[in-house]
Amino acid sequence: MSDPHFVDEVASELQTLFVGRVHRHLPECRSTNDEAAAWARRGAPEGALVTADTQTKGRGRLGRVWHSPLGESLYFSLVLRPRLAPHRLPPLTLVAGIAVAEAIESEGVAVELKWPNDLLISGRKVAGILTEMSCRGLSVEQVVLGIGVNLNVSKFPPELEKSATSLHSATGRRIDPARFTARLCGRLESLYRRFLAEGPAPLFPEWRRRATLFGRTVEVLTPEGRVRGVAEALDDEGALILRTNEGPIKIFAGEVVQVR
Ligand code: BTN
Repeated sequence: MSDPHFVDEVASELQTLFVGRVHRHLPECRSTNDEAAAWARRGAPEGALVTADTQTKGRGRLGRVWHSPLGESLYFSLVLRPRLAPHRLPPLTLVAGIAVAEAIESEGVAVELKWPNDLLISGRKVAGILTEMSCRGLSVEQVVLGIGVNLNVSKFPPELEKSATSLHSATGRRIDPARFTARLCGRLESLYRRFLAEGPAPLFPEWRRRATLFGRTVEVLTPEGRVRGVAEALDDEGALILRTNEGPIKIFAGEVVQVR
């Protein structure tokens, strides 16, 4: 993606009101999420977008490193300023997952959603979402929606070889990063506006029909410890319903670490 004209190329494809209308593209940074958060603190408007050719400290959930090779992937961080109480924010990551899935499907590939925020093609991770927020008093001050999509990666390091894939590997062709970015902005804007107006529940059927875990035995790492059970459903608040030996439980935050 090393392209000094990237911002103009995205702008020429953009069909949004605010998402991506203010856009900074960096040749290199530590993490586009850090850049977007710092920009938001300096007053970046809702919809401001940071992308980069590479990240030196790209991060995933649970402090994991996000593989960020130069010019082969999309590193995308969006500033949002929803007027919401912090506890109403977590479903936004799931809603963003639908937007990323739609952008990927527009390249002609089927994609699965793994609770809460992984996007998989044939069981291998193609994209992930890292949402970070800061609050002031009782309300959300700024949200950074960080999205990494393996667009044109042709070779992963050995430790990711079996678990990761790219859109290039899945389609056999090069994906145009500017077109993909503009399309993703469009899908995010439309779903974000519906999320603010209607809440997440009416959007979740689109998440559930791409869900990959239901009916499978999983182990989930939660803030309260590890739990095992059969993943049964996504409820209307975005929680994963797990059937354990002690009965059904709702998990609001966690990471699925094993699937059987
Ligand atoms: C995950 O699946 O664990 C989340 C991965 C999120 C990666 C993206 S790449 C753009 C943004 N900047 C980061 O440092 N992380 C997110």
